[in-house]
Amino acid sequence: LSARLVWVLGSGGLLGSHLVDHFSQSPEVTLWTSPQARFTWLDPAKLLAELEAAAAAFADAISSGEHSSWVMLWAAGAGIVGTSAAELDAETEALGRVLERLAAKLPRDPHGAPDRPGCVFLASSAGGVYGQCAELPATESSPLQPRSDYGRQKIRQEQLVARWAAAHSISCLIARISNLYGPGQNLRKPQGLISHLARNLILNRPVQVYVPLDTVRDYIHAADCARTIVASVARLFRERALAAKPLSVVKIFASEQPTCIAVLLGIFSRIGRRRPRIIQATSPHTRLQPSRLSFRTQVWPETSSCEIGLPAGVMETYQYMLARYQRGQLG
Ligand SMILES: NC(=O)c1ccc[n+]([C@@H]2O[C@H](COP(=O)([O-])OP(=O)(O)OC[C@H]3O[C@@H](n4cnc5c(N)ncnc54)[C@H](OP(=O)(O)O)[C@@H]3O)[C@@H](O)[C@H]2O)c1
Repeated sequence: LSARLVWVLGSGGLLGSHLVDHFSQSPEVTLWTSPQARFTWLDPAKLLAELEAAAAAFADAISSGEHSSWVMLWAAGAGIVGTSAAELDAETEALGRVLERLAAKLPRDPHGAPDRPGCVFLASSAGGVYGQCAELPATESSPLQPRSDYGRQKIRQEQLVARWAAAHSISCLIARISNLYGPGQNLRKPQGLISHLARNLILNRPVQVYVPLDTVRDYIHAADCARTIVASVARLFRERALAAKPLSVVKIFASEQPTCIAVLLGIFSRIGRRRPRIIQATSPHTRLQPSRLSFRTQVWPETSSCEIGLPAGVMETYQYMLARYQRGQLG
């Protein structure tokens, strides 16, 4: 038995694409891709059938017997703060279907236990689940206090994964991630302030900002987050081997560098040699945005490696957008 079999769901997204990059550099990993390259996310009936077929095919690949362990990473999900509860429910249902199908098809030993170690990873949201946390920085032992439907749905997804993992003797890693940024962010979402600032600075357009400029967030580069996830998965399997039983781990993935929007604007001013134009606006979702978020992990802190400082990461994102602009791909 050799490499670990790894399936990333949401592989074309900001986090998913960086996870694929980092896992493909790991010699102990074989990346599995579903026969269907892209899922029909916006057609629920089609989507559920496609996801079930993919989960069954992944279980078959595990059964083929060539891999010592496996990991399924749920880095999918289009929801953000302000997404309707119905749309968020659909995402949780999709996750549930993948888990159900996987459980039904996983190879088992004569006692009914999984025949080799496996792990399910969930991309949850630190800002979502700790949205009203009064004592900062929030850690894994802080109370869960969501402020939005998005945060409440992330808690439901965490519980779904943890319950499923316990019921099927499989490990799980729940990642409470702060604000991701970096090349590859979906500009169609009203999320990802750094990417929107970079694009609009290049296009000389103003950016609408829906929160005060002293709003504090924790920005983590998607590459740093992916590197830490890959290291945490490896660690989980090492510890699981020592414990000789499945593990359930919840960990915060954050840069642990609280930054206010005004500081971001200063970084952009230096890069673009002019100040980004801002329109301060309000939206019905402004009240769902806490004024300050900061995080600290107490779980495997030595596994967290944030190598990309914010000025360098912002510069990289800006240059990525500039290259797209020069190719005529930035609208
Ligand atoms: N961005 C952040 O700051 C942040 C912070 C904390 C947690 N998270 C969580 O991390 C995960 C990934 O975030 P991301 O920023 O990388 O997202 P993203 O760039 O928008 O990518 C998400 C991926 O999800 C799939 N997808 C598209 N529409 C979907 C739908 N309606 N329902 C479910 N999946 C859909 C697509 O997968 P394919 O590529 O396979 O088509 C897409 O590439 C999400 O669950 C998000 O809630 C994000």
